[in-house]
Amino acid sequence: MREYLPILIVGAIIGAFAAAFCLAYAAIKNKKETMGFDRHMEDGELALRLLKYAKPYWKDFVLVLIIMLFSIVYDLLSPILVGRIEKIVAGEFELSYLFTLVAVYAGILVVSLVCTYFQAIILQKTGQKILSQLRLDVFTHIEKLSHEQLNNIPVGKLVTRVCNDTNAISMMFTNILVTMVKNCMVVVGVLGAMLILNYALTLMVLCFVPFVLLFTVIFRKFSRRVYRVVKDRTTDINTYLSENLSGIKVTQIFNREEKKNRDFLEKSEALKKAKQNQIFVFGIFRPMVYMLYISSVLCLLYMGGRGAIGNWVLFGQPITSDIIVTFYLYVSRFFNPIQALAEQFNFLQSAFASAEKIFTVLDMVPEIVDEPDAIELEHIEGEIEFKDVWFAYKPGEWVLKGVSFHVMPKQTVAFVGATGAGKTTILSLICRNYDIQKGQILIDGIDIRHIKISSLRKHFGQMLQDVFLFSGTIRSNILLREEGVTDEQVEQACRYVNADSFIHKLENGLDEVVRERGNNFSAGQRQLLSFARTIIHRPEVMILDEATANIDTETEVLIQDSLERMKNIGTMLIVAHRLSTIQHADNIILLSHGRIMEQGTHQELLHLHGRYYQLYTLQYNKEQLQVGARS
Ligand SMILES: Nc1ncnc2c1ncn2[C@@H]1O[C@H](COP(=O)(O)OP(=O)(O)O)[C@@H](O)[C@H]1O
Ligand SMILES: [Mg+2]
Repeated sequence: MREYLPILIVGAIIGAFAAAFCLAYAAIKNKKETMGFDRHMEDGELALRLLKYAKPYWKDFVLVLIIMLFSIVYDLLSPILVGRIEKIVAGEFELSYLFTLVAVYAGILVVSLVCTYFQAIILQKTGQKILSQLRLDVFTHIEKLSHEQLNNIPVGKLVTRVCNDTNAISMMFTNILVTMVKNCMVVVGVLGAMLILNYALTLMVLCFVPFVLLFTVIFRKFSRRVYRVVKDRTTDINTYLSENLSGIKVTQIFNREEKKNRDFLEKSEALKKAKQNQIFVFGIFRPMVYMLYISSVLCLLYMGGRGAIGNWVLFGQPITSDIIVTFYLYVSRFFNPIQALAEQFNFLQSAFASAEKIFTVLDMVPEIVDEPDAIELEHIEGEIEFKDVWFAYKPGEWVLKGVSFHVMPKQTVAFVGATGAGKTTILSLICRNYDIQKGQILIDGIDIRHIKISSLRKHFGQMLQDVFLFSGTIRSNILLREEGVTDEQVEQACRYVNADSFIHKLENGLDEVVRERGNNFSAGQRQLLSFARTIIHRPEVMILDEATANIDTETEVLIQDSLERMKNIGTMLIVAHRLSTIQHADNIILLSHGRIMEQGTHQELLHLHGRYYQLYTLQYNKEQLQVGARS
């Protein structure tokens, strides 16, 4: 009995740990429901969709599997070789045989290393290809989403989808899947080899396996949770960062740095805590499995040692010293892959979690799409008609209530009205940035829903309230959508909109660098550049939103002048705050709370003595006062 005491003690320790873990697991399980981490896509569905991305590269994966078989040979054969070496070292020493064994060992080792190298290279290459395809797909899909859908997802979240989440998936292809297959094969192979060598010792090693499985199951529960939390916190930080970096100037102006620092610290701490938990979970799991490994080694050495000394023959198989050495090596090759498998299973879960997030974005059906029989418009005249248009951003909250107006080709129409009246909304409806709920919008008598969106937008030039310039050069920003445009045409466009005067003063002219969002240019300069990039492709309809707000008088004169010229290009819809700038418009539409209150020419509206008259006299008097004050 006494000789079995060590085994009993080890068993008791393991049992105690297992019981403690089970208790902890039970506690966690109750909490899990309230955490809301459950996924809504099945693993199988996700795996199938992911495999589609791997399908074009199936040959690479097969090649990797074949190479991998060679590297597994090392894991299986090397313990036997070492056992043999032990035998001849301990027994009748035969130098030439020893050399042969060492040479074979070295040979297998080199082959295995070379195989591992090529395997890694092939997988990385393939993984990067899959990754780049996936990233592209996500990005392309995001571009198809409507303004409304985009308004609802924070930019930081999208960045996380395109970068972090796709990365987790590429890890799956480059590393996890293949090592999981390899580890499964190693476990099965080692088990087979051990069984052939000695049943009794194999059975003893197997006694530890249920514990490993138990730990693994518990570990998975914990780690899945910490993974989710780490992911969510990472998204949080990215979202916060992208918003606050864009708005950092406002933060500075309002002296909110400290408050923002605190907010950021909070998010950063949350991520730190999540990461620590992750490390903690791994930190417990690895030693647990290691403890099992050591216990099994101890048992092996104890029982094997006694068996070898006592010349035991169990199940007709003798226990010898070389078998103990071989088993000793096999045991580590048996436990390591099991532990690795449990961890890789987690990575896989994490990859699936990322995949789910990516597919959720990919599954967002773009709200504004072409009708199946939508037509292509080669040319339009520029006639626009709104017929009793009703529109709401949110159901029930009507922003436009039965708006009707008619614009003839080449006319200039201005929209005026208080902030929030719906001017910007009208302009964005014409290009189908949003779809209307009731009524009709017609271009040249055709409902815009029957026209291909790309074809529709091709004929429009939109100059929006806040001009967005991309980082690059002035030239690249002007050429945003036109290809095959000559330098001469670019210069001409700049001259046409009076942008040439400031561009000429720049050191590099058209090649002057534009920083992110064009923040090295003034609002007026950005506005002129946006005019240039709009008129360079001669749109039939031009849309201009409050372009003249917040601009110095000198630039305003330039802008006024270019506006006058642009009127000759095509139909023009303008939103303007300064009524003096739209006096020559063919039609002026005054909006209030989503309805048209008055419309007509400047003179007609003045004669009406209505809202427009009030607004105009108010502004006129104010400007007179300002002029008086200056002189
Ligand atoms: N993306 C949006 N989502 C929800 N409501 C919006 C959105 N854009 C504008 N609105 C609302 O629609 C109304 C009209 O806005 P807008 O057309 O921008 O007015 P403005 O005449 O000043 O250009 C406002 O009450 C505004 O709050
Ligand atoms: Mg507006």
